[in-house]
Amino acid sequence: MARLTIDRLTKRFGDYKALDAVSLDVRDGEFIAILGPSGCGKTTLLRLVAGFDRAEEGTIAIGDRVVSSPEAHTPPEDRRIGIVFQSYALWPHMSVAENVGYSLRVAGVAAPERERRVREALELVGLASFAERRPAMLSGGQRQRVALARCLVASPSLVLLDEPLANLDVHLRASMEDEFHDFHARTGTTMFYITHDQAEAMALADRIAVMDRGQLMQLATPSELYREPANEMVAGFIGNGLIVPGEVRDANAGRAMARVFGVDVPVRCRPDQKLAAAAKLCLRSRDLVLAPPGPGTIPCRVRRSVYQGGYSRVEIAPEAMPDLTLEVHQPEGDPVNSGDAVGVRIAGGWVIPDAGPAAA
Ligand SMILES: Nc1ncnc2c1ncn2[C@@H]1O[C@H](COP(=O)(O)OP(=O)(O)OP(=O)(O)O)[C@@H](O)[C@H]1O
Ligand SMILES: [Mg+2]
Repeated sequence: MARLTIDRLTKRFGDYKALDAVSLDVRDGEFIAILGPSGCGKTTLLRLVAGFDRAEEGTIAIGDRVVSSPEAHTPPEDRRIGIVFQSYALWPHMSVAENVGYSLRVAGVAAPERERRVREALELVGLASFAERRPAMLSGGQRQRVALARCLVASPSLVLLDEPLANLDVHLRASMEDEFHDFHARTGTTMFYITHDQAEAMALADRIAVMDRGQLMQLATPSELYREPANEMVAGFIGNGLIVPGEVRDANAGRAMARVFGVDVPVRCRPDQKLAAAAKLCLRSRDLVLAPPGPGTIPCRVRRSVYQGGYSRVEIAPEAMPDLTLEVHQPEGDPVNSGDAVGVRIAGGWVIPDAGPAAA
């Protein structure tokens, strides 16, 4: 177990900044997920932590030891980290036990101790009875567990995982998610888990670091990211938040009144939120309720209604902003049709902190 401290890390490929001053503090024993769209720099960050690449600027410390800085570079084999990739990279000609014990054999660990540690690692991933099998005789999920055991056998202080479930089908992903969760709960190993699947990140991580175009957007718990996104990117990316313009007219201790499409709406905000003429709000579909057109509702037009089993997903556009699409979940038995004029009541929302200039 170890703490991981990344401080203003910058990595360039030619003129392109793949990582731009990324700082991240992972606590000892924490499960952290790195989440972001394809190409945002997740694998680049993992490769720097592993020591496969060097950054131009910034430092990485594992525990109290600086392993990367512009002046110094600890090679991967001296960092006490374990790595699990999307492709399991098992040796086909070796048994499960030989695959898991390979690094110990190379390191010259004596046979009795090696066998004991291999047995323990296989027990930890529930594969003790598969020790003599070849990888070809295992399912995808079992192979991924062998890869995990192989990384654990060396007692790493930090485990790095790069999209470890991306090759598995939906059902297997869910059960492997449980396995990673249980494994983390049992061992308390610090986990640095890369994914572009939000549901996976939310299910597993203590905190999630959302990245975009080489920059860290927000580091927070899953519910903070959903309830209190720091900027427009996070608001739109996490849970498909709707972003609408509004005017913050009154803000006090985390509560505000915002004028949205001509209607006053009670919303949540940061305690230090200022009044703002051009703010942005993040709305969730559950914040929106269809109502008969009238005072206190926003005049809208139904674009289409799609039955989803038990409810319909209704896409509507405000008359004042016909290019914007809002989504409402309408309970069964109260149908609306495309073209209908409806009203929408906004029951709540979140003022996105760093959007729009602050007014007096
Ligand atoms: N060796 C390299 N040379 C040049 N550019 C690179 C190199 N490695 C990565 N990049 C670029 O850096 C950016 C970040 O790549 P990275 O592999 O870190 O993305 P990622 O977030 O892991 O994406 P994905 O979800 O698709 O795996 C991309 O634009 C990529 O093209
Ligand atoms: Mg990647």
